[in-house]
This record gives sequence, C-alpha cells and structure tokens, in this order.
Amino acid sequence: MKFQQQLEQCLTSGGVFLTSGGEGERNVMTMGWGMTGVMWGKPVFLAPVRTTRHTFDLIQKTGCYAVCIPKSDRKKELAVCGSKSGRDTDKFALTGLKALPCRQIDAPAVADCLVIECKVAYQTTLEKSALPADIRERWYQKNDLHTLMIGEIVDEYEL
Ligand SMILES: Cc1cc2nc3c(=O)[nH]c(=O)nc-3n(C[C@H](O)[C@H](O)[C@H](O)COP(=O)(O)O)c2cc1C
Repeated sequence: MKFQQQLEQCLTSGGVFLTSGGEGERNVMTMGWGMTGVMWGKPVFLAPVRTTRHTFDLIQKTGCYAVCIPKSDRKKELAVCGSKSGRDTDKFALTGLKALPCRQIDAPAVADCLVIECKVAYQTTLEKSALPADIRERWYQKNDLHTLMIGEIVDEYEL
C-alpha cells in the first residue's frame, strides 16, 4: 500500500472520494470510513457502503471502485459528494471535479488525487443483531446497514 499515511490523514479529517460506475453512469461519493490490509495474500481495501447508496447499486453492476485521496483542500466538494445522491445529480458536473478513466477498472478516477483501484473480491452486509447495542442505536436506527466491500487493490498511482 503506497498511500497509507495520506489515506489515514484524510479519513480522519473530512473523508476521501469513492468513485464507481462505468461509462455514462459515473458517480462519486464521500467516504469517511475504510481500512487497508492483507487478505488471501493480496493487498485489500475494505469500503463500508450502505445499501441505500447509489454507489452501492453501481458497484453491484461493475464489481469495482476507486478510492481517490485529494492532494489539496476539497472540503466543499467532499460536502457536496457526501450529501447529494448520484441518482439525481452528476456530482462531477456539479462540483467541477474532473473525471479521468481508471487504468484497470471500469470506474472514473478524480483528477488531482492519489488513486487506489479495487476489484471487489467479497462483500458482506453487517448483521444488525450481531452489533453492540450502542452502535445499533447510534448508526442503524433506519436499518440501512453497511455492506463491507473487500476490494483487491489492483493499481495505485498519483494523478
Ligand atoms: C464525511 C462523510 C463521510 C461519509 N462516509 C460514508 C461511508 O463511509 N459510507 C457510506 O455509505 N456513506 C458515507 N457518507 C454518506 C454518503 O457520502 C452520502 O450518503 C452520499 O450522498 C451518497 O451518494 P450516492 O447516493 O451518490 O452514492 C459519508 C458522508 C460524509 C459527509
């Protein structure tokens, strides 16, 4: 993993961009959680995406996503991408973020970012009854549970 330090820095201070969708369906949302590690002897990134997100539907179609870590201050864009849904809006057009093609996967990458391309190797949705009561109450009152998308990291580069 090349960008661990920058990733942790952004995840703890406003988030990163999670991109998905093939040609004509590109989308970007803000993600504040996530983790990198090793699984099946491969480098992986785990993205927690609630099943209600448009991003979730797009990842079901393509089986991949990219984590894009801003290299400069993107507070405004992160706020928009974390509050509007791509179901109703092209958030690239709305924010002025520039979409470039990914190298290995069917998804856009955000210009001026550090990019981590991932192919979903496994996904599983959290089971509400198995969570501690305080977490259930704080995060899942509406039952929109996170699906943990474990993506094999297939490329990492700077744009
Ligand atoms: C700082 C921040 C962090 C967020 N982190 C996540 C996350 O880790 N997982 C998630 O499913 N949604 C997260 N969201 C919410 C989504 O970004 C938001 O619901 C977005 O509108 C979904 O867009 P979409 O419907 O186009 O996929 C976060 C929002 C903000 C503002």
